[in-house]
Amino acid sequence: MCGIVGILGATPVAPLVIDALKRLEYRGYDSAGIATLEEGCLTRRRAEGKLRNLEARLSEAPLKGLSGIGHTRWATHGKPTEGNAHPHATDRLAVVHNGIIENFRELREELVADGAHFDSETDTEVVAHLVTREMRRSNDPVTAVAAALPRLHGAFALAFLFEGHDDLIIGARRGAPLAVGYGEGEMYLGSDALALAPFTDTIAYLEEGDWVVLSRGGAEFHDKDGAIVAREAHKTQAGAFLVDKGNHRHFMAKEIHEQPEVIGRTLSHYLDMANGTVRLPVDMPFDWTKIDRISICACGTAYLAGIIAKYWFERLARVLVEVDVASEFRYREAPLPKGQLAIFVSQSGETADTLASLRYTRQMGQHVLSVVNVQSSTIARESDVVTPTLAGPEIGVASTKAFTCQLAVLAVLAIAAARARGHIDEAREKELVRELVSMPGLVAESLKLEPGIESLAYELRKASDVLYLGRGTSYPMALEGALKLKEISYIHAEGYAAGELKHGPIALIDEEMPVIVLAPADAWFEKTVSNVQEVAARGGRIVLIGPEGAAGRAGVEALAEVAMPAMPETFAPIAYAVPVQLIAYHTALSMGKDVDQPRNLAKSVTVE
Ligand code: M6R
Repeated sequence: MCGIVGILGATPVAPLVIDALKRLEYRGYDSAGIATLEEGCLTRRRAEGKLRNLEARLSEAPLKGLSGIGHTRWATHGKPTEGNAHPHATDRLAVVHNGIIENFRELREELVADGAHFDSETDTEVVAHLVTREMRRSNDPVTAVAAALPRLHGAFALAFLFEGHDDLIIGARRGAPLAVGYGEGEMYLGSDALALAPFTDTIAYLEEGDWVVLSRGGAEFHDKDGAIVAREAHKTQAGAFLVDKGNHRHFMAKEIHEQPEVIGRTLSHYLDMANGTVRLPVDMPFDWTKIDRISICACGTAYLAGIIAKYWFERLARVLVEVDVASEFRYREAPLPKGQLAIFVSQSGETADTLASLRYTRQMGQHVLSVVNVQSSTIARESDVVTPTLAGPEIGVASTKAFTCQLAVLAVLAIAAARARGHIDEAREKELVRELVSMPGLVAESLKLEPGIESLAYELRKASDVLYLGRGTSYPMALEGALKLKEISYIHAEGYAAGELKHGPIALIDEEMPVIVLAPADAWFEKTVSNVQEVAARGGRIVLIGPEGAAGRAGVEALAEVAMPAMPETFAPIAYAVPVQLIAYHTALSMGKDVDQPRNLAKSVTVE
């Protein structure tokens, strides 16, 4: 959740650390800090709130050191105050940390009894004192870190800077990613390759349990037992991705508008455009005809992509699909017959609960397939096969283009499964592929509805509660609409299967609460229309997202109608995501909310 960086530079590193932290701010943004060695002495600057506050602090009191570590925080232990901001330091070292030290209470008691004085409420500070105690014993940073790491329980990535050691940074990885970047007489450490992209494209990743000793001359990797190991460096594409907002006010707006392009790019990775058929770029290490059951597991928006895929796999490929929220699945001890398929969906590829669920299914003998956006991520690396989304970096906390690209990949997999299992013939495969290929254009058409949605958002911002309804694949889209709206506007919103209305939520309908109904022209349209009439009969304020003239066909007067272009029904969710995203975006914007960095959230949820 937090972002960490370390640089052994040839020039003052503070501006470089800030540059890297800007690219990591999506991971957490409630405070930030930096420590450098100023003539051998550890010196810190920390600030509550966004990175710009730390930048202001640095412009008042600059740092000139050539070695430094930095941090951008998503609070787990202790409020987001300056005192709890990283780096945490003693007279011997400073440390930045991403993750959780689960046994910090026991360690803290032990260290206090030993005379340590704690300044913060964080779990991280125990790491600083633990390694410091080892330093007093050995006076050697490498020995001290090696002795301290086995005492830590939990999931973490760490970077240490030591007083008087200008050519040394030590990093450690257990359950949270860490990358080493190679420069010309400079070395880098960071939570991901994207953070290091301005400095280098040569990256090596720490494996689980590794720790690394960096000097300007290179990196020495150790495995969890302390043995020196080789970790190959690769060239990354991260630098090819511009992490800027282009002509847009927010990353979220840019990412919504990028969707036609990135969905198209993703589809062309999986389709033989000349033949109009599916062509998976990797062989599946299992036989679709032997799969009786698929478990899909993910969190948040990725989980909702999984529910939409359930409809596709079950209808097209006639295979039973179970979809689970990863935080529940990981502890549910679900019995899974050996040799079945488990699919994990994740933009970041680092979500702690999704990763733990993956490891559970592996123990249960499942084939593990992941749909991830970050191909160097832990989930990707631990999967039997990866079918990536080619969305490019998604920086806005609200998932938009990653979601529609996940849908594109899952749709392709459902068609591949349907064909392999003999439930569709070549003609039907080609028809489905044709429909899928039309989706980027339909997404572009749907984006043209933005001005009308902007006016609608002006009305919605007055609401304190909003209900989203849909049937079939529009049911998970209703859930996605509600999630998107609450996460960035903070308006309470709920998504329901429209058929569930009478079983409780209809009691909420009054003249105040907007009810947003997703009603594509699909097999469920007439049923959804009946539910719309029930809402209208109770004076509900209806926003109808459906084909042209849907309100007229339903015989209701809507507060607003979002008239979507005509489209093939199966893959309609890919285009219906657009109004759902734009409603959330413009409502939050008109309320003056921070859409890219909403309160309390972080992009990459690497703690459970
Ligand atoms: O990186 P992941 O796709 O695994 O993340 C899963 C969720 O945390 C994520 O989709 C979250 O729900 C988004 N903020 C929703 O917009």
